[in-house]
Amino acid sequence: MADRKAKLTIDGKTIELDILSGTLGPDVIDVSEIVKSGYFTYDPGFISTAACESKITYIDGDKGILLYRGYPIDQLAMKSDFLEVCYLLLNGELPTGTQYTDFCKTLNRHTMVHEQMRNFFNGFRRDAHPMAIMVGVIGALSAFYHDTLDIKNPEHRLTSALRLIAKMPTIAAMCYKYSIGQPFMPPQNNMSYAANFLHMMFGTPCEEFVPNPVLARALDRIFILHADHEQNASTSTVRLAGSTGANPYACISAGIGALWGPAHGGANEAALNMLHEIGDIKNIGKYIEKAKDPNDKFRLMGFGHRVYKNYDPRAKVMRETCYEVLEAVGAHDDPFFKLAMALEKIALEDPYFIERKLYPNVDFYSGVTLSAIGIPTNMFTVIFALARTIGWITQWNEMISSPYKLGRPRQLYKGPVERNFVDIKKRK
Ligand code: SDX
Repeated sequence: MADRKAKLTIDGKTIELDILSGTLGPDVIDVSEIVKSGYFTYDPGFISTAACESKITYIDGDKGILLYRGYPIDQLAMKSDFLEVCYLLLNGELPTGTQYTDFCKTLNRHTMVHEQMRNFFNGFRRDAHPMAIMVGVIGALSAFYHDTLDIKNPEHRLTSALRLIAKMPTIAAMCYKYSIGQPFMPPQNNMSYAANFLHMMFGTPCEEFVPNPVLARALDRIFILHADHEQNASTSTVRLAGSTGANPYACISAGIGALWGPAHGGANEAALNMLHEIGDIKNIGKYIEKAKDPNDKFRLMGFGHRVYKNYDPRAKVMRETCYEVLEAVGAHDDPFFKLAMALEKIALEDPYFIERKLYPNVDFYSGVTLSAIGIPTNMFTVIFALARTIGWITQWNEMISSPYKLGRPRQLYKGPVERNFVDIKKRK
């Protein structure tokens, strides 16, 4: 029972609402009983709404803090690896050596996809956006696993989670190979998760391909930085879909669809397209003015964040990684990357962006880094989805493994009042 209460007085009547506290972050006012007063709460975009209780990820937007199960993101990005972070997010604790080895071995049992999945690709145009393929293929995965779709069964939930973590790189690389007409490359279980992905992306059956360890490390760090992020738009989509009892593959497919938007996970692709549109350092001023113009829809993609109002802690690590990769591939003097760094500098010094706390977010630097690694722009959000799958499936599992309600928001109705049907002959 909450010991603190908020009082709400409406039409002279006062109702008391419980104030609940978490381990970190703002307290919350429990408004679930308000409907009994004949009122709904109103919060478009859920800016002031805590939609659930969670123990997975904590964000402090003002202090630029991001914790996965209590561990600061910069420590994990610099000292851990993606599969260790997957274990941490899924189980709540860092693995022992044996637990880590067993986890990796188990994942390696699931890296291949059913041979019939190849047929799905043939139905797509070669120039289909890879996110369109991902939404379809991941959703269709449930068709291959009828034996483990009982979401009330913890074993089935864990198997689905492992299958998704292990198969996302394989399917993502298949999207790329299909788009360039090259043969699909099978996963190599003797490689690290990121190196294996690079091998499936850029290897061919014709010759040996050894992934660059600096690039593999950078990609692993990108996966860690994008693994989870509290109740963002795509995670909220996964939870809402999951609250209907839909199978995990359908829920992750819904999350992929939500992530695709340029205001969310599509921002890294949009940031690179924006840089190509700006084209030259001399054009930056014109685009900065467009971004400031309230009548111009143009925004600086890769800048700003709904929660981080000082800086995105992931962007700090991503920026360092970006410079490492530019060094490793010898792109430091490439005009395109110099343009990106010039835009970063100008935006960071411009009062408009400073006043609105619009800093480069993780997507700005991850887009530049992925481009330097040689990954095509339309694959950026696929890589974000690959990384975020562990976050989505962990949040889904957290919800399903304890009591939950079907998600069903209400509305402020502003449409027509009741009226009678008019026969078409009598309509003017
Ligand atoms: C991700 O939620 C998550 O956690 C998401 C994510 C994750 O890991 O899951 O972190 C991943 O989605 C990162 C964000 C990637 N999106 C982009 O880079 C797209 C560009 N950014 C903007 O679309 C915007 O910054 C948002 C949508 C991200 C956040 O916007 P808010 O918090 O809703 O703020 P707002 O749109 O109300 O803008 C506030 C002001 C406005 O100006 P004024 O009306 O006050 O004059 O800032 C301006 C906006 O016009 N503004 C920008 C801007 N972002 C906001 N102006 C120019 N360029 C921008 N990028």
